[in-house]
Amino acid sequence: MIKAWSYIEEYKGLRKKILKSIDRTLKSGQIFFGKELQKFEKRFIKENNLKYGVAVGSGTDALYIALLGLGIKPGDEIITVSNTAIPTISAIRSCGAKARFVDIGPDYLINTDNIEKYISKNTKAIIPVHLYGQACDMEKICKIAKKYKLKIIEDCAQAQGAKFKNKYVGTFGDVGCFSFYPTKILGAYGDGGFISTNSINLYNKVKRIRFYGIEQNNKKNKFNNKYYANEHGTNSRISEIQTSILNLKLPQVNSWIEQRRKLANVYSQELKNTSLKLPAENINCKHVFHLYVVYHPKRDKIIKKLKENNIQVNINYPFPIHKMKAYKNKVLSKFNYLPITEKMANGIFSLPLYPNLKKADVFKVSRVIKKILIKI
Ligand SMILES: Cc1ncc(COP(=O)(O)O)c(C=O)c1O
Repeated sequence: MIKAWSYIEEYKGLRKKILKSIDRTLKSGQIFFGKELQKFEKRFIKENNLKYGVAVGSGTDALYIALLGLGIKPGDEIITVSNTAIPTISAIRSCGAKARFVDIGPDYLINTDNIEKYISKNTKAIIPVHLYGQACDMEKICKIAKKYKLKIIEDCAQAQGAKFKNKYVGTFGDVGCFSFYPTKILGAYGDGGFISTNSINLYNKVKRIRFYGIEQNNKKNKFNNKYYANEHGTNSRISEIQTSILNLKLPQVNSWIEQRRKLANVYSQELKNTSLKLPAENINCKHVFHLYVVYHPKRDKIIKKLKENNIQVNINYPFPIHKMKAYKNKVLSKFNYLPITEKMANGIFSLPLYPNLKKADVFKVSRVIKKILIKI
C-alpha cells in the first residue's frame, strides 16, 4: 500500500533521539512553559525570519487567538476563501464574526482582483490562505489592506517555509498562523500551532490569551504569574514533550522541503503529457508542496482505480465551506457565488507526498495513473 501520508519512516530514523528527548523532558519536572518551549519559540522565529512569536495548542487556536487579539468581534466581517480547511472558518465563527468568501484563481489561491468587491463597512480583516504550500499574492493583498485599513492574518498552516518575492510567509501580515499538526511541513507527534507578529503589544496579548488571560512575563504587573485574568483568554498550552520533538525536527525542515520539491518535480515530469491539471509554481513564489494537488473531472473514477492498485489519495477539500451545514447560512453574502471554488472541489485530489516517500513510489503512482487515464 502506498499511503497518502505516513510518519513511520521518519520516526524510525528519529526514534532514539525522540525517546531520549522525551525522557529528558519528563525528568526536567516541567510539563508546560519550560525550557523546550522557550528554545522552540526563539528558533522558530529565527528560522522563519519572524519578529515575535508564541507557540500554542494548534493551528486552529493560533487563528482564533490571533483574531481575538486583534479585537475581532461579533458583527465584523473577514474576507477569505471557501476552499480551505474548516478551522480557518471555525476560528472566525468562534469570534462571532462572519466570513466573506472570494473565489479563487486556477492556482487555488484567493483571486486578488475580486477582493475589493467584498469589502463592506464591517470588514475588519483579510485571511489569505497559503493553500497546499504556495503563497498568495501578498503584494496585492497588502496594498488592498492598506487602502481599506484592514488587518491581515496569514493562514500559513500549510506553507511554513514558502516564499513570496523571496520573503517568508508569515512576515507580510499583522499576524501569521502556523500549524504543527503531524502531516504539516513541521509536524509534532500531537497538536501544536504558532502565532507570529511584528507588534510587541499583540505578542504580549496573545501570550496572555493563550493562558486564561494571565500575565506571565511582566514583573511590573502586580498580578504577574497569579491566577488573575487580565483579559478574557482560553487554554492553548503546548506541552514540553511536543516542543522537544519540534526542537529535534526543526533543523531538518529545509531539507525536508527540498525533498518535497524534488518529489513534486518527479510527479510533474511524469504526468506532464496527461489530461490531469498539475500544480504550478507561480512566478515570485517558492512552493513547499505540503500537498501535490491535481485536478481531473473524472476524479472519483480515478480514485477508485487507484484504490484497487493499493494507492491511497486524499481530497483536500471535497466540500467548500459555504456548502457545509454548519456554515452555509452563516457565511454567505449575495455575492457568494463561487464557480471556480465549486468546480475545483469536484475534481481535485492529492497524490501521496511526504519527505520520506520513496522516489520509486512516486514513479509507481505516476505509472498507474497514466494507465488509468488511458482507459477512462
Ligand atoms: C489551511 C489550514 N488552516 C488551519 C489549520 C488548522 O490547524 P490545526 O489542525 O493545527 O488546528 C489547518 C490544518 O489542518 C489548515 O490546513
